[in-house]
Amino acid sequence: MFSYRHAFHAGNHADVLKHAILIHMLDYFGKKEAPYWVIDTHAGAGLYRLDSDWAAKNAEAAGGVGLLWQRDDLPPLLARYVECVLGYNADGRLRHYPGSPWLALDALRGHDRLRLFEMHPTEAEVLVGNLEHMDRGALRQTTVFDTDGFEGMKSLLPPPTRRGMVLIDPSYEDKQDYRRVVTAVKEGVKRFATGSFAVWYPQVQRRESSEMPRQLEKLDVKSWLHASLSVRKPATDGFGLHGSGMFIVNPPWTLHDELKTALPWLKKVLAQDERAAFTLDYRENAAK
Ligand SMILES: C[S@@+](CC[C@H](N)C(=O)[O-])C[C@H]1O[C@@H](n2cnc3c(N)ncnc32)[C@H](O)[C@@H]1O
Repeated sequence: MFSYRHAFHAGNHADVLKHAILIHMLDYFGKKEAPYWVIDTHAGAGLYRLDSDWAAKNAEAAGGVGLLWQRDDLPPLLARYVECVLGYNADGRLRHYPGSPWLALDALRGHDRLRLFEMHPTEAEVLVGNLEHMDRGALRQTTVFDTDGFEGMKSLLPPPTRRGMVLIDPSYEDKQDYRRVVTAVKEGVKRFATGSFAVWYPQVQRRESSEMPRQLEKLDVKSWLHASLSVRKPATDGFGLHGSGMFIVNPPWTLHDELKTALPWLKKVLAQDERAAFTLDYRENAAK
């Protein structure tokens, strides 16, 4: 069993990119009355304390959400993200951080559904414990599986409502995750061609991390968007996360424009050195 615990990283620059995009996607689905499903293949614990020993160890949130927190010049995509995080910190002190399952629960209406996979027994236990504090509505619309999200996702596609998104957010501790992500998206799209699939990936000094996005870009899908944000140059010792990316199959049409404004701003505000950079690409396949 791998040792990855998201609490170490909650609210860092990678979470900012991932969660700002996720919230935009959820808001977009919520604009139509028809119900939708959210499938989170790698859910984590759901809620994090930023003042816990773990989170404080690397103070990663300080270089992420902590730098956005009190800005009054946020682009709309990020203003909405900060608004969601603020909902967990009503006293104005940044001490709690919502993971993807909680951001989804905030967005879902009564008739929408959330399906969560978390394979790490301790994380799954904390996730279920956190959920038990939620109201009955949230419990009714959510199912937690303590099994492999790559495999489990397949049996849920397409969702009965034929509307929805899959978030694929592995820790990539196992380098097989890169290959499994590509396979999961391929198989997911076969079952649910109109669904949205959002993949997070790390920028690390590893061949697979730069190859995987290129493989995703070659998939035969209706449309995709690829955004990445590097906050510094790669470390000389080869360790650490210098940035991250999000690859989205069938993104909301509004997302590209939002990111055109948000990414240059994030590059400026989250930069740790002069090598901070971003990329943004979008493709539509008219034949599909
Ligand atoms: C990056 S964290 C998830 C963070 C979460 N999606 C969020 O945004 O708040 C990845 C999680 O996936 C879990 N995990 C690793 N391999 C898994 C698998 N094959 N299936 C389901 N969960 C897995 C890890 O235990 C870890 O908690």
